[in-house]
Amino acid sequence: MKRFLDLADLTREEVLGLLELARRLERHGEPHALAGKLLGLVFFNPSLRTLASFQAAMARLGGHSLVINPGQGSWQMETRPGVVMDGAAAEHVREGIPVLASYCDALGIRLFAEGRELATDLAESAFSAMAALTDKPLVNLESAMNHPCQALADWKTLDDLAVPRAGRFVLSWAWHPRALPLAVPAAVLHMAALRGMEVIVLRPEGFALPEPIMERARRAAAASGGSVSETSDRAQALSGAQVLYVKEWGATDSYGDPAADARLRSALRGWCVREDWFGAAPDCRVLHCLPVRRNSAIADEVLDGARSAVQRQAYNRLPAQMAVLHQLLRS
Ligand code: CP
Repeated sequence: MKRFLDLADLTREEVLGLLELARRLERHGEPHALAGKLLGLVFFNPSLRTLASFQAAMARLGGHSLVINPGQGSWQMETRPGVVMDGAAAEHVREGIPVLASYCDALGIRLFAEGRELATDLAESAFSAMAALTDKPLVNLESAMNHPCQALADWKTLDDLAVPRAGRFVLSWAWHPRALPLAVPAAVLHMAALRGMEVIVLRPEGFALPEPIMERARRAAAASGGSVSETSDRAQALSGAQVLYVKEWGATDSYGDPAADARLRSALRGWCVREDWFGAAPDCRVLHCLPVRRNSAIADEVLDGARSAVQRQAYNRLPAQMAVLHQLLRS
């Protein structure tokens, strides 16, 4: 494996192999496996888990990492091609990324969606352009439409919780004060479909996931014996569910239009997950990638209760990323 940019680049068997490696590294540390290796982490957007768990993973495998937050202690970096650089950015990624790559054995890059044009964000053009600037091992730390590290860790969490392969997995929209990107819902939807689950996307009208994302998940499900459907009927979706994966995202009907998005979501404050959602799913576990706004997206009673697995999920970023780094830098 040379790059970890999209779970869909791997076969189901390769994903299962990575998960087995993650479990092995969790049980038996390899404190010298990556001795002498250096990982460069470039974060155009904020992070807690991805940043800290990648640094921890490198340290626990005997390697080192450096972190660049463009515009915060280093030059602000321009990502647009062909632009006249007379604004705040002093450096273009066309120079910055190869320079960093020349110092490191592998790079990780986080660059969120612009959130203006859906087609542009679906095309992942800014991330792909940066990926083309280096032939070093590369990790997607979250791009416009993908978060493969989160998806891999989430698959491990489902295994840890002994959630059946064919169990009902509900990916539910939740309220947030503003539009958030589609990267996590897209990645998690694909992951659950590839795992072979009965996946239901539960979302209000106006928030359907884009067809290319749904179609990709349907193809993964078809190959793995699972299924993918969508509804706005909460009771129907949650009946018998084993997992409720909660995530906030922007209105896809008015993508790139914050005022229209705000009008749509203003009537949706009831999409805050509470205990009374689970009457027909008493054993349902609750997942969220974090960060989460308490009592906006998920109520305290759920986050602090027995069905919440969000801490396990966040912890699993560490063994999952140790496995990714081990694969990228040892082979
Ligand atoms: N879930 C996740 O990627 O968390 P961070 O944004 O804190 O890295």
